[in-house]
Formats: sequence, C-alpha cells, structure tokens
Amino acid sequence: MPLVTSTELLAAAEAGNYGVGAFNAINMESAQAIFKAAEEERAPFILQVTQTTLGYTEPEELVALIKELAKKSTVPMALHLDHGRSFEKVMQFLAMGFTSVMIDGSLTEDGQGPRSWDENVEVTCKVVEAAHAIGVPVEGEFGMLGQIGGDLKGGEGALTDPDLAAKFVETTGIDILAVGVGTTHGLFKGKPYIDHERLKQIDAKVKVPLVMHGGTGVPDEDVRQGITEGIRKINFDTGIRVSFIEAVAGEIHAIEKEWDDADKSGGVRKYDIRRVLKPARAAMVEAVRDRMRVFSSSGKADLGGASSAKADPAKAAERAREAEVAKVLE
Ligand code: 13P
Repeated sequence: MPLVTSTELLAAAEAGNYGVGAFNAINMESAQAIFKAAEEERAPFILQVTQTTLGYTEPEELVALIKELAKKSTVPMALHLDHGRSFEKVMQFLAMGFTSVMIDGSLTEDGQGPRSWDENVEVTCKVVEAAHAIGVPVEGEFGMLGQIGGDLKGGEGALTDPDLAAKFVETTGIDILAVGVGTTHGLFKGKPYIDHERLKQIDAKVKVPLVMHGGTGVPDEDVRQGITEGIRKINFDTGIRVSFIEAVAGEIHAIEKEWDDADKSGGVRKYDIRRVLKPARAAMVEAVRDRMRVFSSSGKADLGGASSAKADPAKAAERAREAEVAKVLE
C-alpha cells in the first residue's frame, strides 16, 4: 500500500474519535514488529524515526527497509520524522520521501535548552513553507515535555498555554500540534499527572489535531480520556524498547544457564543471534498491539471511508498556491 500522510490518518481518527499510534523504529526488528502488529490489529499507524536514530545507521538503509515493508502492508501508514531539530535536517528527511515531518522548535538544535517564541516561530514557518510546497504536513511543538525521569508535572512553566498555542498554530500554519500537558519522554518516576483541564482548553482553541508525546507509562484511562479531549496522535517509543530489552535479558539468562550445563557436561556452547532477536521481536509486536487497542485504532484500517478535501495535503497545498497567486494578481 502506498504511504499516506499523517493528515489523512488523523482526519479519519478525528471523525472516528480514536487515536493513531506513532511508533518509533530504530532497526529491522522494531520496524518489522510495528508493521506486524498493525496487520494483526488492522490498525492505521504512523511509523516514526528520529534524526538521532538515523545517526545509528545510514539513513537510506533503514528508510529503504521501511519502504519495502510498507509495500507489503495492507493497512494505511505514514512515515514521519520525529523531533526534527533544524530546517536542514527536516529537508534531508523530506528528500527521502517522508510523508509527515515534525519540527521541534521548542528546543535548541542540540536539544539542551528552550528556544524563544520568535526562534520557534521562525524555524517552524520555514519548514511549513517547504513541506507544504510538496504536500507534506508538519507537526510543530509549543510548550515542553518533561525530561526523562524528571518532574512529574513536566514543570508548570513549560506546559502549553492554550491561548499562545492557538496563536502559534495560526502564525506558523502547522497541521498538527504537540502539546505539553504533563507527559515525559521515557519512564515516569511515579504516577504521572496529566493536566486534562489544560488539554480541553487547548482543544477548544486549537483547530488542528493534538499530539501526546511521551506515551509510555501514561495510564490507559488518561490516554483514553486524552483522546476524548482532542489527542489524535500518541507517540510510543520507550515501551517498545522495554519489551525488547526485557525479552533479550530473559533469553540471555536462559542461554547462560545452557552454557553452564554444556561446560559441565563437556558439550559445546551454542550461539544463535536469532534465538535472542526472535522473542524480542515478538515482545515488541505485543507491546504495539496492546497500545493500538488502548488507542481504539484496531480495526480502523479502512479509515472509516474518511477522505475530505481538508484531509488531502496535496489539495491543501494546491489551494494555498492558488491563494498566493490570487494575492499576486490582486
Ligand atoms: P516515550 O518514549 O515516553 O514513549 O515517548 C515517545 C515520544 O514521545 C517520541 O517522540
């Protein structure tokens, strides 16, 4: 099936009142697991990679693999850049055929500090102009997520202000907005506090789909409630890593025992990489399937037949170009 844009998936999710999982892949096994989970659940999905993941492998290698998997997929999916940090990086991913991109202008390029309003608006507008010219939707971020293992409220000052969020969307023209409502990338130290009141206020003022980053560890009831309050894309990464590493650790433990037995009985040790990776991949499939069910995206592969002019980025880009031409002709 050809890749679709995130706008198409999120418009259908809006019509059907469910959430679309955005799952991070870093290697062959995690990409395969995400596709397999989606096939089994008949769930539309977003497969995303970060720019740092692609520092681990040659970008083209992982992307070529994902595109091969996409050809065989019978459920709609978008290929998304997660947390692009500069205009140049986002352009690199657009050139590779990504059908959705994020510019995270809330943080500096090295991810170490906050960007000012003006800096965020400037870099986001630049990306929006370039991506929209080829019909690709853009996710922007206003307000910040808590940092790994950090304050459970994500830091009051960093949470997304509803009025400013609306202004940010209007000023930049982004299609999707990542909001800070108390979630954190990585594992939480305790039970997270999700600011549902704030989320409702943002949803009332912002007319584009909202994204919950830091989906790992958010209680199911908070996720479900968030979906009723406007969250349409839910990012899930650490939970996939946890399932992989726990399965690998369990398998290594069993293998070490077998080595001991072999050593004692004068046998030979066996080494098979697949022995470790197969259960790890199977564990990732289950972790992703579990989230798809919680997001209520299972069984929505036909997108509810939803396809509107608003959901079609190519048409949206065409309309934008026509408006530009009309302005010049005035
Ligand atoms: P988690 O790692 O907490 O699931 O968050 C993923 C994420 O938000 C990626 O952008």
